[in-house]
Parts: sequence; C-alpha cells; structure tokens
Amino acid sequence: MEALTDKALHGLAAGEAARPENPDWTIDQGWDRYTEAEHATWKTLFERQTRLLPGRACDEFVQGMRDLPIGADRIPDFRELSDVLMKRTGWQVVAVPGLVPDDVFFEHLANRRFPSGNFIRRPQELDYLEEPDVFHDVFGHVPMLMSPAIADFIQAYGQGGLRAQQLGCLPQLARVYWYTVEFGLLQQGDGLRLYGAGIASSYTESQFCLESPSPNRIRFDLERVMRTHYRIDDFQESYFVIRDLDELLDFTRIDFAPLYDAALRGPELQPGDVLAQDRVFHRGDGSYHRQQRQRNAA
Ligand SMILES: [Fe+2]
Repeated sequence: MEALTDKALHGLAAGEAARPENPDWTIDQGWDRYTEAEHATWKTLFERQTRLLPGRACDEFVQGMRDLPIGADRIPDFRELSDVLMKRTGWQVVAVPGLVPDDVFFEHLANRRFPSGNFIRRPQELDYLEEPDVFHDVFGHVPMLMSPAIADFIQAYGQGGLRAQQLGCLPQLARVYWYTVEFGLLQQGDGLRLYGAGIASSYTESQFCLESPSPNRIRFDLERVMRTHYRIDDFQESYFVIRDLDELLDFTRIDFAPLYDAALRGPELQPGDVLAQDRVFHRGDGSYHRQQRQRNAA
C-alpha cells in the first residue's frame, strides 16, 4: 500500500463508487470467497518471486517471511497474519478495496493497522498493477512489519502524515516513504540488499534495482530525498541506500519541521539527478530510461 500523493489522485483513484460503508474504508477480506484460480495466481507469483529473493532481499525480510503464515498454496488470511504480527510488533493487517484517501491511510498506520488490498491481479497481467493488490501488500510489506524498526517507522509515518497535511508538505514526506518503505535499499554484508515492498514484490524491479547498470544507487539523505521526485509509471531512476533499518528508527526521533523548511527552500530534484555532495554507490548510466524515452518519442 502506498500514498500516491504526488499525483494528487489518491482519493480519486479509489473512486467514490468504491467507498465502503465503514468510514475507515475497511472491509471484510472475504477469504472464503477467493476462487481456486485466485489462489493459483498467488502461487505463481509467490513461487517465482521467492526464487529471486535469496541474496537480494535483506535478512529481516527473509526472517519475517519465514515466521509468518505466508506460503505458496493459498492467499494468506489476514486474521492469521495479524495474530502473529500482533505478538511480534503490535501490528494488524486490515482489508481495504484498493487505494484509500490519504487521511484514512495515515490514520490506519498511526494505529498500527496496515491497509491491504484484498483482491489479486489478473493472471494475464502478472507484472501490471494499477493499484496495490494482496500480493504487493502482503508479500511485499507484511514481512518487514515483523521488524521492530520498520514497525515503529511506519507508525511514525502515519502520525507524521497527518501533521504534514496540516503543514502543506505532504509531497515531501511521501517521497520519504516512497524511497524507503516502497523502494528502499540497505547495506548488508558486503553489498546492497532490498527492503522496499515495491521492489520485493516485483519480479522485474527486484533484479533491476540491484543488478542493472542503469539506475543510480545513492546514500540516503533525508532532506535530499524530500526534494526528489519519483517515478510512478516505471522503474526508479535512483534508489537510496540506508545503513541499516535502525537508521529509520533514528528518523522517528527527530523533528521533521526544519527539514521540511530546508526541503521547500532547496530546488526540486528530478528522479535521475546526481549531486556533487551525494555519496554514490553506483553512478547509473541511465541506459534503461534513455531507451524508454526514445521508444516513447518514436
Ligand atoms: Fe505499497
């Protein structure tokens, strides 16, 4: 689940027609109503993604997956996930019909409820996702919620989101979420690993983010990231690398207000920009997005 704040379509994307009866947008997961074909789609996605993650996903992701009732054979039941999560980090998974308005999203996170789409993508569109589905939300996000650092960080993000709305700097905060919880990399052992759900749940981007020569891999800097636009329609042009998950915990203890001020004063950065002061792990050659632009122009 994510907030598509930069597009300002978040609530609209959900569609008023999709608004459920409950004011917090939660619905019943309807686990008993999944069809055999839907469980089979989950199995296909689960098996091909699980093969990719050794050596790419961070240790905390692998351990979280191991400790949760998530397997290949069936779409997980949110009640069972919540039982395990609640004991470990006090989180629950609640079902929603798709994207939800920002304030609803933040309110859930601030109360340690992770809103997850209950539907699953169609089998002929395994790599195409208009809205986060149960595979993205559960396979990508829930293992990381077993980590106490991520658990606290996402709760703080929910609290910070409600405040950022009042301060008028939601885009700046949303970029932090995007480049950590959704597309974050971290240092582990002698290399980089992924921890972001957007890449952990993507067959193509989990390889691209770590192995392609195209994207930049840059040491994470909070104010710099607040100024950096991101791609919602394609692979990222830059990934930002934290030292370890405890670095996110450090962010829960600082006041973002002066950083918002600095970010609003500084120039906005495009997704592929590299600055002289950046600490660069890998300077991307930009080949992938250059090709995409040429293709689009043709
Ligand atoms: Fe997400």
